[in-house]
Amino acid sequence: MILITGGAGQLATEFQRFFKKNSIDFLAPNRLELDITDFDKVKDYILKNDVGLVINCAAYNLVDKAEEEKDSAYMINAYAVHNLAKICREKRIEFVTYSTDFVFDGNKGNEYAEEDEINPISVYGRSKALGERLALEENRRTFIFRVSWVFGEEGKNFIEQVKTWANTKESIKIAIDQISSPTSTKDIVEITWKILNLRDRDYGIYHISGAGEISRYEQGKYILERLGYKGNILEGRCLDFTSYDIRPKYSKLSSKKIEGILGIKIPNWRSRVDEYLKVDS
Ligand SMILES: NC(=O)c1ccc[n+]([C@@H]2O[C@H](COP(=O)([O-])OP(=O)(O)OC[C@H]3O[C@@H](n4cnc5c(N)ncnc54)[C@H](OP(=O)(O)O)[C@@H]3O)[C@@H](O)[C@H]2O)c1
Repeated sequence: MILITGGAGQLATEFQRFFKKNSIDFLAPNRLELDITDFDKVKDYILKNDVGLVINCAAYNLVDKAEEEKDSAYMINAYAVHNLAKICREKRIEFVTYSTDFVFDGNKGNEYAEEDEINPISVYGRSKALGERLALEENRRTFIFRVSWVFGEEGKNFIEQVKTWANTKESIKIAIDQISSPTSTKDIVEITWKILNLRDRDYGIYHISGAGEISRYEQGKYILERLGYKGNILEGRCLDFTSYDIRPKYSKLSSKKIEGILGIKIPNWRSRVDEYLKVDS
């Protein structure tokens, strides 16, 4: 049995669609049904349901709020991840979890590879970085997939935010000083599953990121044009929207390692955004 934690999230929902389509059994409890910070309950749940693989999609993702809710961020993104890795080690099963481009400081100037030094500049980034380290130290059969700007159907994501603005605002300002790449949950799920099905598995850290790189402004403008928005689209800066200067300015993840191993090319973010918006490319 496969356990997907954080069952109501956008990546977890995509996994459920994929497993249903492929007739693969899974359990996907939401936060109320299985809170990953309840260490004993998580252990009981995994043992009782004879779980053979854990895919951790639960996370504390509120980047700004994490600055004030440090304990929650660390508990969910680091200590609960450590606990899951430990239970998986004891049960001799593989553990999959997800991390973020926010483990980097954004100063490199070109694509980040898996072996680049991390230097998170936010509580969120530090909590995810600690989760990575604790999981890898605890269980050598751990896969960590770092992803960026995730979007999936019915998710709480930037595209949905832009759609709401398009319906309610005559003028929209979007940050130009944050560059990375939008990544579809479809690609994350398919690639995770391919890696898990390789005969020779090389555990550790992998980057998965939609091809191309853009600023939030360019991404927003592209979405608004696709939606036929007629208002003004203005260039802003991250600090116009938050008082926390904690987002890496440039955090494009290189997917070369995973593309090389699987012999694939991850689609450009534009085609995935078009698919999401159900418009023709
Ligand atoms: N979204 C992004 O842009 C982004 C960027 C980089 C990396 N990532 C990483 O990608 C992975 C998937 O993210 P996502 O976009 O699918 O996130 P998401 O949609 O925010 O889903 C996360 C889920 O985890 C649940 N959760 C939070 N605390 C929990 C707990 N203690 N126990 C059980 N469930 C809990 C949340 O429930 P509630 O909503 O009820 O709290 C939510 O349903 C995460 O590791 C995330 O850090 C995401």
